[in-house]
Amino acid sequence: MRSDLVVTFALFLLHSVVSLRTDQQYWKELAKNELEEALQVKWNVNTAKNVIIFVGDGMGPNTVTATRIYKGGESHRLVYEKFPHMGLLKTYSADKMVPDSACTASALFTGVKINKDTVGVDASVKRKDCARSLNPETRLKSLAAEALSAGKAAGFVTTMRVTHATPSPLYAHSADRLWECDAFVPPAAQQCKDIARQLIEDEPGRSLNVILGGGRRTLVSSPDDSDNPWECTRKDGRNLIEEYKKDKESRGLKYSVVTNNRELRSFNANDTDYLMGIFADSHLKYEYQKDKRPEGMPSISDMVEAAIKVLRRNSTGYFLMVEGGNIDMAHHRGRAKVAINESAAMEEAVKLALAMTDEEDTLLIVTSDHTHTLSINGYPDRGSNIFSIAAPSTFDKVNYTTLSYGVGGPDSFQYYVKTEGNETKVERRDASLNNTDSMDYHQIAAIRDVENIHGGGDVTIYARGPYAHLFHNVHEQHYVYHAVMYAAKMGARSFAHSCAASAVTLATLLVFTLLVHSDR
Ligand SMILES: *[C@@H]1O[C@H](CO)[C@@H](O)[C@H](O)[C@H]1NC(C)=O
Ligand SMILES: *[C@@H]1O[C@H](CO)[C@@H](O)[C@H](O)[C@H]1NC(C)=O
Ligand SMILES: *[C@@H]1O[C@H](CO)[C@@H](O)[C@H](O)[C@H]1NC(C)=O
Ligand SMILES: *[C@@H]1O[C@H](CO)[C@@H](O)[C@H](O)[C@H]1NC(C)=O
Ligand SMILES: *[C@@H]1O[C@H](CO)[C@@H](O)[C@H](O)[C@H]1NC(C)=O
Ligand SMILES: *[C@@H]1O[C@H](CO)[C@@H](O)[C@H](O)[C@H]1NC(C)=O
Ligand SMILES: [Zn+2]
Repeated sequence: MRSDLVVTFALFLLHSVVSLRTDQQYWKELAKNELEEALQVKWNVNTAKNVIIFVGDGMGPNTVTATRIYKGGESHRLVYEKFPHMGLLKTYSADKMVPDSACTASALFTGVKINKDTVGVDASVKRKDCARSLNPETRLKSLAAEALSAGKAAGFVTTMRVTHATPSPLYAHSADRLWECDAFVPPAAQQCKDIARQLIEDEPGRSLNVILGGGRRTLVSSPDDSDNPWECTRKDGRNLIEEYKKDKESRGLKYSVVTNNRELRSFNANDTDYLMGIFADSHLKYEYQKDKRPEGMPSISDMVEAAIKVLRRNSTGYFLMVEGGNIDMAHHRGRAKVAINESAAMEEAVKLALAMTDEEDTLLIVTSDHTHTLSINGYPDRGSNIFSIAAPSTFDKVNYTTLSYGVGGPDSFQYYVKTEGNETKVERRDASLNNTDSMDYHQIAAIRDVENIHGGGDVTIYARGPYAHLFHNVHEQHYVYHAVMYAAKMGARSFAHSCAASAVTLATLLVFTLLVHSDR
């Protein structure tokens, strides 16, 4: 006991000394190490056999900074912050300066910018225009579909419903992201198949090797509706999870369907080519609220581990998309600590993916679809808790937190009108009346709306592995698809690439032959 205390105290002292060093030597060494690291960066021009893309939904640069400070202080580095290459992505959509997740995921995974709230169809399709979305020319082929065409395995992991905005452009084409199940497809759009059915019945959905996330209600019919108007409950009597099993059985494919921690831990990954795991009626719970017992829900890391085990069985390679979706959900509720805890959980999953792959053959990307309005304010002392009070305002003397939002819902809007005698004034709620370090705390927002809404700033893209250097400056978001296609030599690109290479070889031979001949 005693020695435990001594060790803890010693560690505390060491930590204070290391993290709050102020001497010149400390800073010089920090920079020297960075310089040495920079000088060692080399281009990896191998072909990317495998590609893994992590999307921290709503994980803008300020969320990453706050995650870094939360995990280890200001000079800490998250694992993906040590990747050799990075750039920024411009997230605007075909029609909006500030986008949603459906159009941004479509840009990332199909290589074309499209309209807000639409999925995997080009910008000639306006939201809800079912008829236009049925035109095959509008339908965009995703990286998952391209990977399958190239003879690789493909799949995705999400903490959201498997039919939600970020994963759906991998396999679906829909004029409205809300058409996740039949009950939300309006009568005027009955010719358009809901997103869940596209996942189970159509290509490339039915060929995906890994489908892990939530959304039982959109897949399995139920008389009980969710009380959330965003959550579609299937009404056509179908059970698409059973249909998934029947489809795999009839084709003689090796599959596993899992629903909780116990099943995810015990399925035989060595004998599974198709893995479906649906762990919740709707989105998965926040990581800190998940039940870790056998009947509970897996963490994002557990899902990534299972996904890679199944996908790496394919000797040609694989494509995997992983979405940390609850970063965005928590930001929408104005709960910054939860959002940052979710972002830290995604970093754990990135660490695991790094450990399970080789940078010689696996392009690993960490990025985001769009930002939120989170900002880091005041002049808090170095080493402060990122969730604490920054200072009292010099204007009204009322304390405020280091983190705040631009636009927020009712819980984030903390102004009230005060009347004293003949005077009426607007005052701000004192942040120090609450425990601002609690998971339940809502950071203040300047402007009130129905909820905290997306930001339009650039997001960062970090990359390691083959052709990671293709991410090097300020890029368009849809460029990611094209860079990945190039790195993995997929699609028409692989043809063009080998043609170009053959042409160069031929030309070289010709010139050489001519030279040799002219010499003689
Ligand atoms: C699966 O294969 C791996 C590697 O070949 C092996 O280490 C592991 O024991 C196998 N697991 C099962 C359940 O067969
Ligand atoms: C890899 O995946 C492709 C596309 O799904 C499939 O055609 C191929 O048979 C798989 N190869 C192996 C070795 O599993
Ligand atoms: C998230 O928060 C929980 C509860 O405080 C904590 O136990 C966990 O370590 C945090 N996760 C990460 C990845 O930091
Ligand atoms: C502001 O918060 C600090 C730290 O929580 C507290 O010590 C101080 O009393 C608060 N000041 C005001 C004016 O509320
Ligand atoms: C409000 O009342 C105070 C004193 O009662 C007076 O000095 C002041 O002029 C009044 N202000 C207005 C805006 O009527
Ligand atoms: C502060 O605490 C009160 C009482 O628990 C709660 O009702 C309120 O929502 C909290 N405020 C914020 C901004 O989280
Ligand atoms: Zn969102």
